Amino acid sequence: MTRHAQTTAIVTGAGHGIGRAIARKLASEGAAVAVAEINEATGRETVDLLRQAGARAHFVRTDIADAASVQAAFDEAAEQLGPITLLVNNAAFTAAGDLKGMTLEAWHNEVDVNLNGTYHCIRAIVPAMRQRGGGAIVNISSVNGLRYFGNPSYSAAKAGITNLTLSVASEFGRDGIRCNAVCPGSVRTENITWAIRQQKDPQVFQKLARWYPLGRVAEPEDVAKAVAFLGSDEASYITGAVLPVDGGLTAGMNVMIDEFILESRND
Ligand SMILES: NC(=O)c1ccc[n+]([C@@H]2O[C@H](COP(=O)([O-])OP(=O)(O)OC[C@H]3O[C@@H](n4cnc5c(N)ncnc54)[C@H](O)[C@@H]3O)[C@@H](O)[C@H]2O)c1
Repeated sequence: MTRHAQTTAIVTGAGHGIGRAIARKLASEGAAVAVAEINEATGRETVDLLRQAGARAHFVRTDIADAASVQAAFDEAAEQLGPITLLVNNAAFTAAGDLKGMTLEAWHNEVDVNLNGTYHCIRAIVPAMRQRGGGAIVNISSVNGLRYFGNPSYSAAKAGITNLTLSVASEFGRDGIRCNAVCPGSVRTENITWAIRQQKDPQVFQKLARWYPLGRVAEPEDVAKAVAFLGSDEASYITGAVLPVDGGLTAGMNVMIDEFILESRND
């Protein structure tokens, strides 16, 4: 597929997990991809993978929590690959915790990286996109930004990202900029949170599957497919959308219905 033959993308946090899958998907459809990562080793690894597959790719080191480092990295990406037409705000982390155990520092860290970092990236790209007459932005939010699933500081930041998506879509639509968000449920990655949970319980993804109407957790590629669509001209009239990519998790309360509303079930 060459849907992204004219795309030059920046994908933040593309050294691992979902970000790497997004970078590979966009590259497989013809995009040139800048991998913007805090981790130089994994970021360069992704660039090697993309180049081996025949794509144009470039590594830029950045910490999205630092606005100056984001601007420098994005300027370098545009110098190396050409004007950026698609930004995917994927980099994020969670230390996972609850409000009772929350330290002030932990709260600030998660909001700084996840919400403020996303804002820094948008701020760094919008002027150039406006000047060129448009562009697309896809923010990776989470079901945690829609409902309570634990991780309150991460969730507050993700809810902020979904609302920021609406602001960008509304304010810059006339400049030809589209901005959308995807909200994944559980995705089978080896990020630090899942690694710890899997260590405690190797069956964690299988156990989670029963909460999902589609009967499984997501693979990183499930998210990448949605991002590739929203970032492409096929979504040319879609902006301000907040799209759950969650196998139906937020559609209803299946497990509760199975347990309590037995009389209405016919299967
Ligand atoms: N895995 C899931 O179940 C899940 C579910 C919903 C949403 N998400 C979201 O998907 C995105 C990717 O998640 P993942 O599971 O692939 O995570 P991951 O930890 O595997 O990858 C995140 C990447 O971001 C990079 N990163 C972290 N902080 C950064 C910073 N300050 N500056 C630049 N890069 C930074 C990391 O080095 C890493 O390569 C995140 O936005 C996450 O919140 C994940």
